[in-house]
Amino acid sequence: MYIKRTRGWEIPERLATPESTYFDRRQILAAGGVGLASSAFPFVARAADTDPTADLYPAPRNSRYTINRPVTPESINTTYNNFYEFGTQRNISAAAEALPTRPWEVKIDGMVEEEITTDIDTLIRRMPLEERLYRHRCVEAWSITVPWTGFPVSELVKFARPLGDAQYLRMETFMMPDVATGQKQVWYPWPYVEGVTMAEANNELAFLVTGAYGKPVAKSMGAPLRIHLPWKYGFKSIKSIVRFTFTDERPITFWEELGPSEYGFWANVNPDVAHPRWSQATERDLATNERIPTELYNGYGEFVADLYAGMDDQRLYM
Ligand code: MTE
Repeated sequence: MYIKRTRGWEIPERLATPESTYFDRRQILAAGGVGLASSAFPFVARAADTDPTADLYPAPRNSRYTINRPVTPESINTTYNNFYEFGTQRNISAAAEALPTRPWEVKIDGMVEEEITTDIDTLIRRMPLEERLYRHRCVEAWSITVPWTGFPVSELVKFARPLGDAQYLRMETFMMPDVATGQKQVWYPWPYVEGVTMAEANNELAFLVTGAYGKPVAKSMGAPLRIHLPWKYGFKSIKSIVRFTFTDERPITFWEELGPSEYGFWANVNPDVAHPRWSQATERDLATNERIPTELYNGYGEFVADLYAGMDDQRLYM
């Protein structure tokens, strides 16, 4: 993003697991349970063995949300990541394995009836888990599709009981510089912070992710709790969240603080508004390595365009 990088989308052929492998795996899970899947697919077992909520997966798929291209192979989505806490390149998956995701506390504070601190497993078990297929468009002009599992952000809002005058939901990632050595780089404004308006938080697309590919989400993808906002550039989709704060002040986000002329608060996908240093007209599909046209709101306009009616004075697409 803000830093010069190699062309990481040039993924070696050996990483491209066919989509059929993923769907076979789901069938095996459904038919035989995790035990059988463990022996056939060792890296399915790893997450399942250590996560106390593993029995909740796979969750039923919500067919309302469809994608217009195949699911990106799991082997790509778990190994090609942006997670600056673990490094500035895309190959942080091994380093991210050091993140201790249990015990994991989530704090809900700010303009709420009462502050809540909950452990992640209690929170996940209270929430209605479902699977959704979503497209994801990074500001760096690469894209993937993901079978996420999680629950609508609106469910967290209900649970949090915010006061009527809260206008924004601010989210914060963990701070563990001894484990996530990227956090020792003092020129970054750690911890990673993101935010949305209450209307965005309550939009049906806004999704809190606890799983992917029919099991708990990989550490490299933001375990144990991340958000996914499919109509926005990927940097809005903050990973490994420890704190939600309801506030009436617009949060200054991590990337906005680093480069306000390049990364803004809204960051809605728009092919017609170029990043100051590159075009946003097309994107590289990581699964096929092909360039495809980028769509306004990443193709989710029917769900979200109304949120921005009459806001033409704002930098909505940066
Ligand atoms: N969240 C945290 N805490 N740290 C990060 O560096 N990177 C963001 C977002 N969330 C990031 C983050 C960016 S730029 C993108 S594109 C997505 O995570 C990448 O998600 P993925 O690695 O699961 O594809």
